Amino acid sequence: MTNPLFQKDIISISEFSKDHIELILKTAFELKKNPRTDLLKDKLIGVTFFEGSTRTRLSFETAIQRLGGRVIGFPDAANTSLGKKGETFMDSMRIITSYTDALVIRHNKEGAARLAADISPVPVINAGDGSNQHPSQTMLDLFTIKETQGRLEEISIAFVGDLKYGRTVHSLAEALSLYNARIYLVSPESLAMPQYILDDLTKRGITFSVHTSLEEVMPKIDILYMTRVQKERFDETEYQHLKSKYILTPETLADAKENMKILHPLPRIDEIVSSVDDTPYAYYFKQAANGVYAREAILSLVLNKEI
Ligand code: CP
Repeated sequence: MTNPLFQKDIISISEFSKDHIELILKTAFELKKNPRTDLLKDKLIGVTFFEGSTRTRLSFETAIQRLGGRVIGFPDAANTSLGKKGETFMDSMRIITSYTDALVIRHNKEGAARLAADISPVPVINAGDGSNQHPSQTMLDLFTIKETQGRLEEISIAFVGDLKYGRTVHSLAEALSLYNARIYLVSPESLAMPQYILDDLTKRGITFSVHTSLEEVMPKIDILYMTRVQKERFDETEYQHLKSKYILTPETLADAKENMKILHPLPRIDEIVSSVDDTPYAYYFKQAANGVYAREAILSLVLNKEI
């Protein structure tokens, strides 16, 4: 039977059913347990990053190479004909997708992956578009929550920091609403979760509450999802004012549940002090390593009828 993600674009979590998510997670757990080297044999994948990245780009490339595929692309568009000669984004996408079996794209503009998908004859995977969505990050986040808590249903989670521009929290909140999560939103007022996401959570019957104090939610949560203030989306004065609002230290964790885990999409700047890394709560580096399995699963399902 053809898997339902075969040849599909992966652009936004809102397009995923719970069954699709479960299929990706099941595949990712299987690939972590029993590595494969053949699932992308004879596949050539374009990995095009118009915005900086360490984890997403390199874990996609790791996933492709571990599964026997090959990669073309760029980590920075500055030296392409788009960057040097003024070629349009759409023409660039048309050309690259005529060479490849799939395209992974990160862009600083919301909607860029969708535009690429509109003209692409091959599947397009959104690796982060502006402050909009980051669906492959959501898959590795869900994978990590399930790995650490043994379940996704009815998780209590606090999202902390820049909830306005943090695309990872937008995607993850939407995905967790399929699992009846209890969501605590902790941020300065100026970095609050966008209203359209709150409206969506309300429509889906999800219980959430808005806080400015991290300490008051600490004893209640299974997952603490820290985020960085997105420097690239502020002017310098505003950034300096906001960047140190929430700094996690071992002392802040005094009332945490025993199996509470801290996740962070990374990079961190100063919002988690390095001494937290040595506590049993820190899980963000293992979370980043799980990115390879989540991305192996996405690529395998998009490019194989059956696996
Ligand atoms: N989590 C994440 O998207 O990290 P990078 O920006 O390094 O890819």
